[in-house]
Amino acid sequence: MRILLTGGAGYIGSHTALAVLDAGHEPVLLDNFSNSVPDVVDRLGEIAGRPLTIVNGDVRDPGLVRSTLAAERIDAVIHFAASKAVAESVADPLSYYANNVGGTLAVLEAMEAEGVRSFVFSSSATVYGGPQRLPLDEDHPTQAVNPYGQTKLMCENMLMDLVRADRGWRASILRYFNPVGAHSSGLIGEEPTGIPNNLMPLVTRAALGEIDRLQVYGTDYPTPDGTAVRDYIHVVDLARGHVAALDALGKGEALQLYNLGTGRGTSVLELIAAFVQATGASVPHVTAARRPGDVAAMYAAVGKAERELGWRTMHDLAQMCADSWRFATRPK
Ligand code: NAD
Ligand code: WQD
Repeated sequence: MRILLTGGAGYIGSHTALAVLDAGHEPVLLDNFSNSVPDVVDRLGEIAGRPLTIVNGDVRDPGLVRSTLAAERIDAVIHFAASKAVAESVADPLSYYANNVGGTLAVLEAMEAEGVRSFVFSSSATVYGGPQRLPLDEDHPTQAVNPYGQTKLMCENMLMDLVRADRGWRASILRYFNPVGAHSSGLIGEEPTGIPNNLMPLVTRAALGEIDRLQVYGTDYPTPDGTAVRDYIHVVDLARGHVAALDALGKGEALQLYNLGTGRGTSVLELIAAFVQATGASVPHVTAARRPGDVAAMYAAVGKAERELGWRTMHDLAQMCADSWRFATRPK
């Protein structure tokens, strides 16, 4: 199959491009480089041993998406392109609705016009809001607790309505937990253009001395060591999950929905300890107040993806840390 990856130069998209290739499909990337750098594509080519096709442009340009679908004879789309910083979405909600909801709508309209009706969507565990029970299974009620989460829920609802209205559509909604790690080559990884907000990029910055100390947000949560618990998943496992979801499109229900996580919770202090153990680096850190909006613990129920997609994670926390560190310390 020929697969269009919107946002394909980004963190998860670039790793998924390699997983798509590994599975014998042909990836075509479309990105406006608003949160990635063009030379990712050269590095992908280096890993793949041949150049990959990249279209430079915006998913909200309907002419461009339509012409790409047609010229590249695309069979299915994995839609990663979106803005993803929660705090920024609170400060500038309209840009998030425009890019995430407007972008998804534009891609779906272009697909409809070109008769391409197989779609995999990057959603997020953030759509569960505050957990009412753990682990979080796919039937857990959803609730948007910030504009970013609202955009993901709106896109999920848009897809559900679309599939209900037209049985020609096949869609898979993937709710990612906390992606970390990098490709084992050390050539691609998480490379945001702005200041990172997520834990692992800040751990590597603290270890590199690029920030004085990591702040551990909250030590009074009702968790074993008082720090917040998340389900960290290696980005390469997450990437493979997309291939499994693509393969399952067309089998079973027209709309499919899966958590992609490991099912294991790790606290902030456990992650720091695992990082120190795996890399030998030190991570200067200091305890700080809770970060507004954070919940105590989130981790996935992964049985549905394991049963129905035949997918399971293969990398442990030590590999996540080692691979993040290899990428952070690559020769630049
Ligand atoms: P990323 O920012 O690294 O990748 C997104 C890519 O999309 C970037 O390369 C960016 O330049 C591109 N892009 C953004 N808007 C675009 C537009 N209008 N047109 C074309 N390209 C555009 O982010 P990521 O971590 O790889 O996330 C990918 C997807 O997964 C996003 O939809 C994100 O919301 C979702 N997600 C991410 C996480 C996470 O923690 N990384 C968790 C859950 C869900
Ligand atoms: C993880 C843990 C922090 C930074 C966010 C989005 C979510 C999804 C993934 C896109 C938390 C703690 C963090 C720091 C810390 N993104 N922390 N010091 O908040 O689980 O999820 O990214 O869909 O929607 O909300 O991830 O990496 O920001 O934080 O102690 O400097 O690390 O409090 O417990 P989070 P995160």
